[in-house]
Amino acid sequence: MVMKVLVVGGGGREHAIAKALSRNEACEIYSVMAKRNPGIAKLCRDFLICQETEVETIAGFAVRSGVKYAVIGPEAPLEAGIVDYLEDRGVACVGPSRAAARLETDKAFCRNMMEKYGVAGCPMYRVFHNADDACEFIKNHDGDLAIKPIGLTGGKGVMIMGEHFGKEGAIKYIQEIGGEVVLEERLLGEEFTLMAFVDGVNLVPMPLVQDHKRAFEGDIGPNTGGMGSYTMPDHMLPFVTKSDYDKALAIMKEIVAFMNDAGTPYRGMLYGQFMNTSEGPKVIEFNARFGDPEAMNLLTLLSSDFCDIVKRIVEGTLSDSNIKFAQKATVCKYIVPEGYPDSPKAGEQADIGNVGSAHLYYANVTEENGHLYTQTSRTMAFVGMADTLEEAEYIAEAAAASVNGAVFYRKDIGTMAVLNKRIEHMKEIR
Ligand code: AMP
Ligand code: GLY
Repeated sequence: MVMKVLVVGGGGREHAIAKALSRNEACEIYSVMAKRNPGIAKLCRDFLICQETEVETIAGFAVRSGVKYAVIGPEAPLEAGIVDYLEDRGVACVGPSRAAARLETDKAFCRNMMEKYGVAGCPMYRVFHNADDACEFIKNHDGDLAIKPIGLTGGKGVMIMGEHFGKEGAIKYIQEIGGEVVLEERLLGEEFTLMAFVDGVNLVPMPLVQDHKRAFEGDIGPNTGGMGSYTMPDHMLPFVTKSDYDKALAIMKEIVAFMNDAGTPYRGMLYGQFMNTSEGPKVIEFNARFGDPEAMNLLTLLSSDFCDIVKRIVEGTLSDSNIKFAQKATVCKYIVPEGYPDSPKAGEQADIGNVGSAHLYYANVTEENGHLYTQTSRTMAFVGMADTLEEAEYIAEAAAASVNGAVFYRKDIGTMAVLNKRIEHMKEIR
């Protein structure tokens, strides 16, 4: 029987979602995206071009198309309550309700919830609602802090004292963005991502991933949406011990249990961003969706039927035995416009050469007369998948290097040199 699924979002993550769904021939894909993503457009039966936050228009399209399921890619429609709208109209969603999505969309809610329920891994933090109080706190505080706007910022609003600026810079930044901020202790360590499928009660973890937030090689430059990511064949990371992993997983499971307790059950993908510190994993944040780029690693690696997972999430029948990932390494490299993220050059032609066996995911790119053109955000990504990290990196690197145009990418992502640096860093800390 045909299974009609709506994919909301038009980026690289959503192309990977559509691709994973399309491996099941019974799946008929519908899409809503702000701009026509050429990869998604090819995979779907019909698509609507509209802002991903226009929830009423999207719900209308879903009902007209007769879709029974929806997978929500980005956070903005979750915040706009798309799941509540769609479910009211009989479309079952993989994605949390507006109330449950606050885990991501309201950083104060997330920390307060962790504190209230005594969830491990919560750094010391304070919530502020006006700039004067926040600045006063910084003036009198010894030690570096992370400064986080309470609401969504597209992954670019967090600033770290001791990394981006000192006390004076921090105070200036808070005055610029207004006083709605969470200030928390600066965590030192190595970051990793643990994502899981959640059906409201049951949680099934995916392989660990490491993203690269900084724009330039050597982890310098401004924060971005993520420049690329990798996974290892054993689904772990060499700087995360089994005990670290178990702690991180326990934190995610507790969160799911407490969301249930609070009357706002969590359904969809839960993304845990952790800092592995000298004291074990601490929570940097939760996201209420697949990570981008992490979804491209994981959905390329997924060997089970994603349509079946979608059904199980909405039915509440998830279990570890239903979900398998290949025992391979993956490396994802994002191609971005020159000047990204601060002053990206849009409208530049980007020609793809020989990509070999790499998987190509289109992101913020337009297609005209058979040519691709950059927009203001990340352009496209290549994923290499192989038995070893070196081979996977080689595949992704060769494909990324084949692109001609006013673009750049990080050559260092997925290399053994970077991996060894991470391992050494963790040894120094412990
Ligand atoms: P976020 O938007 O919350 O993912 O934060 C962006 C980046 O800021 C993270 O990937 C971390 O590198 C960094 N970050 C966030 N919170 C902290 C913290 N408490 N200590 C150190 N770094 C942090
Ligand atoms: N890769 C980070 C994010 O999706 O927020």
